[in-house]
Amino acid sequence: MPVSQPSLTMEHQLFFDVIGERRSVRSYDPEIKISREELTDILRQATLAPSAANLQPWRFLVIDSPELKQKLHPIAFNQQQVVEASAVIAVLGDLECYTLAEKIYGMAVEAGYMPEETAKSFVERYTGMYSSMPPEAIHEKVYTDGGLVSMQLMLVARAKGYDTVSMGGYDKQKIMEAFRISERYVPIMLIAIGKAAKPGHPTVRLAVDDVAFFNEMPKE
Ligand SMILES: Cc1cc2nc3c(=O)[nH]c(=O)nc-3n(C[C@H](O)[C@H](O)[C@H](O)COP(=O)(O)O)c2cc1C
Repeated sequence: MPVSQPSLTMEHQLFFDVIGERRSVRSYDPEIKISREELTDILRQATLAPSAANLQPWRFLVIDSPELKQKLHPIAFNQQQVVEASAVIAVLGDLECYTLAEKIYGMAVEAGYMPEETAKSFVERYTGMYSSMPPEAIHEKVYTDGGLVSMQLMLVARAKGYDTVSMGGYDKQKIMEAFRISERYVPIMLIAIGKAAKPGHPTVRLAVDDVAFFNEMPKE
């Protein structure tokens, strides 16, 4: 079987640099403010990530006011990056994301990507499927899609010269209460974003041989 040998273009190289240079940064320059325009652009590029049925269940609560970052600080177990970073983005999953199916598939029709009949049948199928799913199944879907968009956000940020750290260390119940987030949404992770004051420390990875197997899983 011929094995494909892709040529390495300049764009590939830059992309690999972005992946290789991203580190979790926990010390930020508090003087650096990322404009709302730039944050919006980072979010726009992040949301090019794939999602189940293209339902895009991610929602973002961008916390960039100093007072609100202070309020978040104890909720995130006093992690310093919460107050020093330009913003902290709470990535949320919308458990009622399927209510936007009509809008999303309507946009696809308008863009000429899909005939109206096809869009209608997708909307019916996904609305029926999601609205009858047990809550754990919807949670699983929004967590998966939320992870994909979060990773993309961190890489987009790095490509623009910013640093990030994803955080699971916070009290989910308290953030919901403090920021009046309704039960419709589930917190997925927090992402601090800003300019590093100190570089993130290098970390190790398991070898691919330890984590990937071709065609069959190893015997236990
Ligand atoms: C879901 C998730 C939760 C994490 N939670 C925290 C956290 O609360 N605080 C923190 O400092 N780092 C947190 N991290 C960062 C990890 O410690 C870090 O990604 C890992 O050590 C690898 O380092 P690297 O990101 O620099 O490659 C989290 C990462 C992920 C993916």
